[in-house]
Amino acid sequence: MKNHAKARAHTNIALVKYWGKANEALKLPTTNSLSLTLDRFYTDTSVTFDDQLPADQISLNGTALEGPAAHRITTFLDLVRTQAGISSKAQVTTVNNVPTAAGLASSASGFAALAAAASRASGLQLDHKQLSRLARRGSGSATRSIDGGFVEWHKGFGDRTSFATQVAPADYWNLNVIAILVNQRQKQISSSVGMKRSQTTSPYYREWEKLCKHDLKKLKMAISNRDFNCLGTIAEENAMRMHALTLSAAPDFSYFDADSLKAMRLIHQLRATGIPCYFTMDAGPNVKVLVEPKHLNAVLAALTPAFGANQLVVAAPGPGIQYLT
Ligand code: ADP
Ligand code: DP6
Ligand code: CO
Repeated sequence: MKNHAKARAHTNIALVKYWGKANEALKLPTTNSLSLTLDRFYTDTSVTFDDQLPADQISLNGTALEGPAAHRITTFLDLVRTQAGISSKAQVTTVNNVPTAAGLASSASGFAALAAAASRASGLQLDHKQLSRLARRGSGSATRSIDGGFVEWHKGFGDRTSFATQVAPADYWNLNVIAILVNQRQKQISSSVGMKRSQTTSPYYREWEKLCKHDLKKLKMAISNRDFNCLGTIAEENAMRMHALTLSAAPDFSYFDADSLKAMRLIHQLRATGIPCYFTMDAGPNVKVLVEPKHLNAVLAALTPAFGANQLVVAAPGPGIQYLT
């Protein structure tokens, strides 16, 4: 017997970031976080549970996965099998329309799409809250990719209470995010490893936790007032504080490339000329610029001589999970 489903999930960019776990096995975060789902970057995943298969078969972007990458997905499928009360192995075919492991949140769209496709193929019927809890077990940021628009992940105090909810839908606020693709190679230090090292060795970690609480409050106000400068200021400050945790870790590390710094400097210069634009960066060298549509062309014009049009991808708020079959 075969049972099949296919789903699409979009990546999200955190404006107040998740950077540390209170419980590793359950992927419970130390802080709440808030993100914007993006329309231009997504993952399509199809899952077929087939009782004739001897083992899970997983392909990512057309290549069969083996080793730790396959193990992470098989472990996730085991959770779905347990929840659904089935034992069939699965054929998983996943395609990332986003660079993999480059700080553009492939783990978010990847595990959100997998949670939706695998749960549906297994016969489970999960609502968004349940899907968000399930996606969390694959990758923390995936918790926030079940819904579109602005999404908050409530850290909770256990598996049942740690999930995300939508703060405002994608059409609530017409914003743009320019992704500056400075380097699409896979990072050396995964998000999971990077956040653990920051949390266990940076002397500033406790301060980070405290500041995130304040940032989140201010960000929610900025969203409800559609106050762009406030949103951008909080996002930029919060991102740089996260990167300060990597610089102050032992051993120290950084997700910045020379071109990331070049991009950040350009955004500061543009802002000094009166164009409102702000940057944020996740665990990778690619920079995302927040800008209102009325200033989009001015920002693109300033970035193009430095980066070239093929390195600049303009995204907007994107939708939540979609079932494709
Ligand atoms: P990113 O910045 O891309 O989220 P992470 O270090 O958080 O980088 O996670 C990258 C890992 O996410 C990959 O090594 C892989 O294990 C997992 N991943 C990426 N894409 C997918 C996908 N489509 N389906 C399942 N897992 C994926
Ligand atoms: C910097 O969700 O990729 O993008 O839970 O270990 O899979 P794991 O990590 P992941 O970390 C994301 C970190 C971040 C900030 C964020 O998305 O909130
Ligand atoms: Co990730």
